[in-house]
Amino acid sequence: MDKIVIEGGKPLNGDVKISGAKNSALPILFSTLLAEGEHKLSNVPNLADINFSLKILEALGAKTVFSNNEVSVEIGKTLETYAPYDLVRKMRASILTLGPLLSRFGNAKVSLPGGCAIGNRPIDLHLDALKKMGAEIEVSEGYVHAKCKRLKGAKIFFEFPTVGGTENILMAATLAEGETVIENAAREPEIEDLGNYLIAMGAEISGLGASTIKIQGRESLKASNHKVIADRIEAGTFVVAALMTKGKIEIQNIVPKHLSSFIEKIKETGAVIEVGESSLTVDGSNTKNLSPVKIVTAPYPGFPTDLQAQMMTLLTHAKGTSYIEENIFENRFMHVQELVRLGADISASTKSARVNGPSNLKGAPVMATDLRASASLVVAGLAAQGTTTVNRVYHLDRGYDNIEEKIRDLGGKISREK
Ligand code: EPZ
Repeated sequence: MDKIVIEGGKPLNGDVKISGAKNSALPILFSTLLAEGEHKLSNVPNLADINFSLKILEALGAKTVFSNNEVSVEIGKTLETYAPYDLVRKMRASILTLGPLLSRFGNAKVSLPGGCAIGNRPIDLHLDALKKMGAEIEVSEGYVHAKCKRLKGAKIFFEFPTVGGTENILMAATLAEGETVIENAAREPEIEDLGNYLIAMGAEISGLGASTIKIQGRESLKASNHKVIADRIEAGTFVVAALMTKGKIEIQNIVPKHLSSFIEKIKETGAVIEVGESSLTVDGSNTKNLSPVKIVTAPYPGFPTDLQAQMMTLLTHAKGTSYIEENIFENRFMHVQELVRLGADISASTKSARVNGPSNLKGAPVMATDLRASASLVVAGLAAQGTTTVNRVYHLDRGYDNIEEKIRDLGGKISREK
């Protein structure tokens, strides 16, 4: 199993170009199932999860080509409508095949995704909403069996603004009969990006990015092309890396407004961050001791849960006690014990953590447990004195495109070992 070895203590300086957003590219790839023809997507990050999604599309009968961050997906008149367990279990987002397959072909058999390290990740809200649209849903032998001659538009209220649930219903509604209204929809930028591609394919959608989204169903959609938005979580990870290593980095090709709540919190620590048109410049070189802050993760536009682990790493350098509340997932503090191994002073219960600082981190072997935890350990290793080895680095490969090369280009000492 690969591991990453980091010689810490070197400031990161220079420019970094942020890749396309994993959590936008994944639903957009599955949305291609809705429309015959050749779909052309650009700014697609080269990630394990993307390559995996292309395998699933191929298993369903699509033809895919992926090179230089460009993807072409050729969708035929008919497709398989069965997403098997051995594929779905490796990537939960494959549940996003359910809405498109059911809506276009009237049936779908998709394996239940199962939980993952950060939580049991149910899909009850997805299934309840599809039932409201007329689908017959049976869950048996680990599979969702769904069928419906043609979905009917309905008024859907999500008791929680689920990202995946909003995406599944948004896609399904584009070919349903009549109007679908999604209340308390998720507002993440990735939802807006998916919606913009659906509109490019001919869907009729209003309210993207707001809590109420309206979709008028159409008879069919047509393949189109789209450039995926930048990954706000990768951008935030590099902001923390600059501050932790006391370097100066310009983070380019991003949409700063997608990181508003995160930028506000970074400013609250007293760090110097300049917001450009499509960039952020962070100067950690003259950062004296950062001030402690309180972080409360919430659905967008609140503080993103996917930057909670990276922020915790930064707060080990703040002078005083910071508090972090994790409200989205039930088990998203697995990085705490690993950061403590590096010398951090953190205590945590299931939903909240207290970070005392400043701590001088010292290199040590640590274990990645999930995607964002692995990023927080890499950033901590870059700041720690001495050598840090991050094991189970396959977690990192799921969500960061070429992160080692980007860090080396900024002056960091990082390499991968078998
Ligand atoms: C998406 O997951 C992202 N993944 C996650 O990113 C992200 O952390 C999450 O949204 C929140 O922003 C992708 O986009 C591929 P949810 P998703 O449905 O869709 C509960 C990363 O690191 N829930 O908004 O699974 C659920 O258990 C990943 O890139 C139900 O109870 O998020 C969780 O506690 C991690 N029933 C909460 O809602 C449901 O039917 C948020 O889930 C659906 C969700």
